[in-house]
Amino acid sequence: MPHYPVEPFRIKMTEPIRLISTDERRNAMQQAGYNLFALRAEDVFIDLLTDSGTGAMSQEQWAAMMRGDESYAGARSYFRLAETMQAIFGFEHFVPTHQGRAAENLLVSLLVKPGMSIPSNMHFDTTEGNIRARGGRPVNLVIDEASNPISHHPFKGNMDLNKLRSFIEQTGVENIPFGCITITNNAGGGQPVSLANLRAVSALYHSYGIPFFIDCCRYAENAYFIQQREAGYAHKTTLEIAHEIFSLADGAWMSAKKDGMVNMGGFLAVRNPDLFQRICNELILREGFVTYGGLSGRDLDALAVGLWEALDETYLAYRIGQIAYLSDCLHQVGVPTLEPAGGHAIYVDAGRLLPHIPQSQFPGQALAAALYLQGAVRGVEIGSVMFAHPDPDSGAMVYPALELVRLAIPRRVYTQAHLDYVVETLANLAKQADRLRGYRITYAPPLMRHFTARFEPL
Ligand SMILES: Cc1ncc(COP(=O)(O)O)c(C=O)c1O
Repeated sequence: MPHYPVEPFRIKMTEPIRLISTDERRNAMQQAGYNLFALRAEDVFIDLLTDSGTGAMSQEQWAAMMRGDESYAGARSYFRLAETMQAIFGFEHFVPTHQGRAAENLLVSLLVKPGMSIPSNMHFDTTEGNIRARGGRPVNLVIDEASNPISHHPFKGNMDLNKLRSFIEQTGVENIPFGCITITNNAGGGQPVSLANLRAVSALYHSYGIPFFIDCCRYAENAYFIQQREAGYAHKTTLEIAHEIFSLADGAWMSAKKDGMVNMGGFLAVRNPDLFQRICNELILREGFVTYGGLSGRDLDALAVGLWEALDETYLAYRIGQIAYLSDCLHQVGVPTLEPAGGHAIYVDAGRLLPHIPQSQFPGQALAAALYLQGAVRGVEIGSVMFAHPDPDSGAMVYPALELVRLAIPRRVYTQAHLDYVVETLANLAKQADRLRGYRITYAPPLMRHFTARFEPL
């Protein structure tokens, strides 16, 4: 029997959830244009749409919120956050932002000109969207094992150094304003990046004089994987590992809605004082003054506490263990997933489960819709709806390597019984997989279409 780790907390406050009837679910989906983002949350029983901002805060965080200093400038809350930032990340400068994509927008708007390219292991959709919105080109240079759903490579988020070197040579340093890496690699299955790879990527970027940034929203989960899997790190704390990770970079941005353990927040941190000054100017125009960046004082205080809680190794063992439990249970009932289990989510392999649905008919969307109709479980397609795009040179449609449905687990929210219900629902669905049909898009905006697209079953 798969092992379920005991939660290192008990529940002090509850929020009711309700399973609506099959007819109500069918109705809700029609109303939503078969887009799960358009559902009302009250019509969802188990909500695994995202782990972003959906976690439960601790009693210490709620207590910290009461100390929130709402002064416009120089609030105590800002300085408490700055102290935590310095102790964990060690960058010389940072600004708070209201979430991750605001930090991405600041960085990209200042550094990216049309035609420029930004390499990463894999960009997440908001990063990709922000780069494209400025006329830039996001480029994914992850190792080949990342697109093999059954490879058990321990660090499938690693960047391919040969691909990176030849990409820089071909593109020219002058066309690469900065390089980055995402830890863990959300778009590629929540897979971690090793410290050896981070060190090599940093050295390679720096050998060409290219600034290196880390998209670090799940850095604590990544640090835990390094501790568990990489030779030489078993006796280092997750904090020591985090220090080593960030010492390699010129800057980082974070959606703090993940390993910041808060419902809203983020930051952009840099070493370069000139860049920091330009970021501050832009921040004031778009987000708010430099000591609050679009957040309330109480949000800053909750984040200052949450960043420490995410590094707690008892919590991380439970968190990563909970995801592994879900993965093991799904394998037992014959549901294929991206292996090994990631840090924050299970990625069901819709491509393998529904081989009869071509990528142009969105197998991931078909599975995500069926999962809701079957049991009111909400996941998200991470496949052709999210990532297929016309090639900027040839105009031909480029499809992603994998068609996945991500079941992201909110932090400190669901119990073993909730996860068992998800397994049962997927097991029933897998038995009738050959009956599922694809979808057609009836509306899509030009960028980040998965949020607002509408569909029709074929
Ligand atoms: C890797 C990664 N980067 C950036 C973001 C964007 O963060 P936010 O949703 O806070 O704007 C996300 C959000 O899911 C993410 O997973």
